[in-house]
This record gives sequence, C-alpha cells and structure tokens, in this order.
Amino acid sequence: MNKKITISSIKKTKGIRPLVMITAYDALFAKLLEDDSDMILVGDSLNMSFAGKNDTLSTTMDQMLYHTNAVCRGAKNSFVICDMPFGSYTNKDDALKNAIRVFQETPADCVKIEGGSDKAEIVKHLTNNGIAVCGHIGLLPQSVRSEGGYKVKGKTNKEQLQLIEDARAIEEAGAFCMVIEGVKADVATEVTNCVEIPVIGIGAGAGVDGQVLVFSDMLGLFEEFTPKFVKKYMDGASLVRDAVKNYSYEIASKEFPKEEHTY
Ligand code: KIV
Repeated sequence: MNKKITISSIKKTKGIRPLVMITAYDALFAKLLEDDSDMILVGDSLNMSFAGKNDTLSTTMDQMLYHTNAVCRGAKNSFVICDMPFGSYTNKDDALKNAIRVFQETPADCVKIEGGSDKAEIVKHLTNNGIAVCGHIGLLPQSVRSEGGYKVKGKTNKEQLQLIEDARAIEEAGAFCMVIEGVKADVATEVTNCVEIPVIGIGAGAGVDGQVLVFSDMLGLFEEFTPKFVKKYMDGASLVRDAVKNYSYEIASKEFPKEEHTY
C-alpha cells in the first residue's frame, strides 16, 4: 500500500475489502506504519499514550496540529486523519474555525468528530465548507467523564436504535466514513449494513468495514491497561526494557562503545 488512498477509493472498499486504520502520533512511527495501513489516525488518544494523561479531554488544538504535522512528515503517502479535540467543535462556528486550522496548518486529509445525530449539523457545516469528515459513534472517549466511565454501547434496544439513527445522521450530513467504538458486535454489524459509507470498528467485532487500533496498544508498548478488544501483535514493552537493560549492562561492563562505534 504505497500510494495514498483517496476518499472515493475509501468509499469504494465497502463490501469489497476491510480497511486498515492505525493511530500514530509522531513521524518515526508513522513512517514505520504507513506501508501496511490505508489510513493513519492522529487520535486524541495521544493525550494518554503519548502524554501520560488519564483521558483525552485536555488535548488542545495546538497539540493536535503539532502531532498531525509530525505524522504527515513521516508518512508522506498516507491518508491522515486529525482528531478534533474535546471542546473544539461545540458549535458550528468553532468547529469550522478549528477544522480550517487543520486544513491550513497541516496536510491532513480530513478531521474526525465524536458524536451521532447530536453532531450532524456540525458535520454538515464542515462538509458544506470543504472539510472532509470521518464520524465517530458508539463509545465516545471524550464523554468519559460525563458518562462516568467507558461504557460499551448497543446493549439495549434503545441504544441499538440510537446507534442506527446516529450512523444514518452522520452519513446524511456528508461524512465519508465513520469509526464505531465499543459496540456489541451484532449491533455494529447491523449499523454497518444500514449505511453506504465504510464503518471502521474498534471493539466492535468483525462484521464492520475495517478495523482501527491504537498503535501503542497493538505493539504492546502501552501497559497501563489493555482493553478486551486489543490484540498485542508484539510485546513492545519487554523488547524495549530488554534492549535498555542490555545497553546499561554494556556501558557498565565497558563493552560499549567498541572500536566500530568510535571516531
Ligand atoms: O483517539 C483515538 O485514538 C481514537 C481511536 C480510539 C479510534 O479516536
């Protein structure tokens, strides 16, 4: 996957092949991840995995712009999504002003907004003004404090109907794809079948149009907690610790640096 995917080719994948999305927060990792992903998400999860905070809520616009630029420099052939941070899209004017900053101050290809039918007006305002939008429905990390925790959605009939309404509203508002997070698998599949744009799941089972994971989770680098939906593709934390232990040992034993490392 070394040619940048476009919005129209993203839409055309629906029903044909699953999309691969992964987060990145810096140029170094973005470059390593880009060959095998369709889209790189500069998620506001960086507030937790990168900055060590407890949730995503204190992420700022300036931080998102800084990290998005870093990712775009590292992954020049990738379709890059910039997450709109908490508080940056509470009304149409602020949303447009901040989304325009993303498009003017970074080469990102679209923004991502958390919310369903309650945010449809905002999504419509952005798409009407030339900003491509990826929606985000289901469990919304930016609502963690108001909801009193991370709660899996789609457990009741009411929630199920709400998710379908949310997905339809976001599609109708002009979003070209959406993330669905923390939703019972059968419900996420039903939501996916109710819209024509790709629905990319995280903790939403296999019946969706693609998957997204936070890179530091799937590489086993983030150790604070591991949600049930995360698969660790390597034990990054142990690899890093072992390497640093070895480095420290070789300095103490004067095995490093050797002749080949010396001018
Ligand atoms: O911020 C993020 O990384 C996200 C993913 C969890 C989808 O929004």
